Amino acid sequence: LRLFSGSANTVLAQEVARYLGIDLGPMIRKRFADGELYIQIQESIRGCDVYLIQPSCYPVNDHLMELLIVIDACRRASARQITAVIPYYGYARADRKTAGRESITAKLVANLITEAGATRILAMDLHSAQIQGYFDIPFDHVYASPVILDYLASKELHDIVVVSPDVGGVARARAFAKKLNDAPLAIIDKRRQAHNVAEVLNVIGDVKGKTAVLVDDMIDTGGTITEGARLLRQEGARQVYACATHAVFSPPAIERLSSGVFEEVIVTNTIPVPEDKQFEQLTVLSVA
Ligand code: R5P
Repeated sequence: LRLFSGSANTVLAQEVARYLGIDLGPMIRKRFADGELYIQIQESIRGCDVYLIQPSCYPVNDHLMELLIVIDACRRASARQITAVIPYYGYARADRKTAGRESITAKLVANLITEAGATRILAMDLHSAQIQGYFDIPFDHVYASPVILDYLASKELHDIVVVSPDVGGVARARAFAKKLNDAPLAIIDKRRQAHNVAEVLNVIGDVKGKTAVLVDDMIDTGGTITEGARLLRQEGARQVYACATHAVFSPPAIERLSSGVFEEVIVTNTIPVPEDKQFEQLTVLSVA
């Protein structure tokens, strides 16, 4: 078994390597003057089971291209199996056409990764689980929920209501509610008018006097979850916690999330959270 890391999340990759008691494989990574990337694996991987850890997070195009180039290098080096470990699968939100003449980027990315030579995929908390079906190779879809739920359990919260910030996230929130002693569920009826602009309309369910735990797959600009939290407060929630696997944190997420509406914002390290994106109420859990 050999473990390699792209440049997107070397801290997570090192942590995984420590768990496995192995070193990360050596790799040269250089940029040409025009921005093109050069990768060379620095040891023989002939006949090996190779695992590559690379979330396709910001800057997504660079990290995705790097993943493809590393896979290609491994294939041409005669690796027996190449597992692309993609803790955060970018371009996942366009998983179907919602208007004419759009691209389905989640499928396009699946084609690229398969064509590059990956023989197996391991991804965490896909935006929609059906993306697994875009691949014709084995796919392990794993969840951060055990890590987040363990943490929530350690806080001994009372009177919990689990809230999905939109209708699409109900199955995820229901799974959380079940694990939190069958806590009740509420749903925010959200209508989105443009990309990255969230408009919150209504809470379905009772949140008055309760500890609301908002659950989402990702926090990007923070609009969805912050608007949701404000509405929950208006509806009488006593405290609001936000939980999300992927801390995409595009501006102005930090301003929104640290505005005081949340008791705590709980995310994982599928995407690295640099120091300048950390704030008082933020907890980053490791999924290594
Ligand atoms: C939407 O379907 C997703 O599950 C997230 O709710 C959304 O992508 C978060 O984006 P933002 O933080 O920009 O509102």
